Amino acid sequence: MKACIFDLDGVIVDTAKYHFVAWKKLAEELGISLTEEDNERLKGVSRMESLNIILSLGGLDVDDPEKIRLADKKNDWFVNYINEMKKEEIFPGVISLLQSLKEKKAKIALASSSKNAKTVIDKLEIRDWFEVIVDGTMITHSKPDPEIFLLAAERLGVEPKDCIVVEDAEAGVEAAKSAGMKCIGIGSVAQLGKADVVVNQIEELSTETLEKQF
Ligand code: BG6
Ligand code: MG
Repeated sequence: MKACIFDLDGVIVDTAKYHFVAWKKLAEELGISLTEEDNERLKGVSRMESLNIILSLGGLDVDDPEKIRLADKKNDWFVNYINEMKKEEIFPGVISLLQSLKEKKAKIALASSSKNAKTVIDKLEIRDWFEVIVDGTMITHSKPDPEIFLLAAERLGVEPKDCIVVEDAEAGVEAAKSAGMKCIGIGSVAQLGKADVVVNQIEELSTETLEKQF
């Protein structure tokens, strides 16, 4: 293991819940019910792709300017939530895992499809842990496309085969595996079965488990 690449939303901090609450509110305004199961499909994918999934769930067809208006509305709600976030919301175990990766001289990157990623990590005061940050403003294709992880590896100067990704989204696990990387899933085996190992919570993850995958 030369590098560990972390997803952000749902891995470092529970922003996944804020994305869900904001999408659900928008869906309800459109007369569409959005279940937690539907929400699994929104994790890791871009804002516009998420909106398209919701519209297709409701069988709604809207023009591009209206899509932009709806996506902006959801984002305004999401940004209001993250502006209230405190660093205590970082998941237990994250900082000690980052610390122990540093001690082992592993490189650390953040690879998030979110265009709000830098705002979130600054709010949590964790930017300095990451040698490389790749976010939704820097990619053309979001997860499950491997682009974001390949870009992170390239910027770290590490071969994809020497990287391990930590992900909570099905699309993210798929992206990591297509990039030729090892992958740890955080969540349920039912959703993330394609990962090399799945744990319920990031707190259960140690550098030994990460190293064992190579
Ligand atoms: C990902 C989330 O990290 O970022 C998705 O898992 C979200 O749920 C995506 O849609 C895009 O985020 P943003 O903040 O650019 O709308
Ligand atoms: Mg995520």
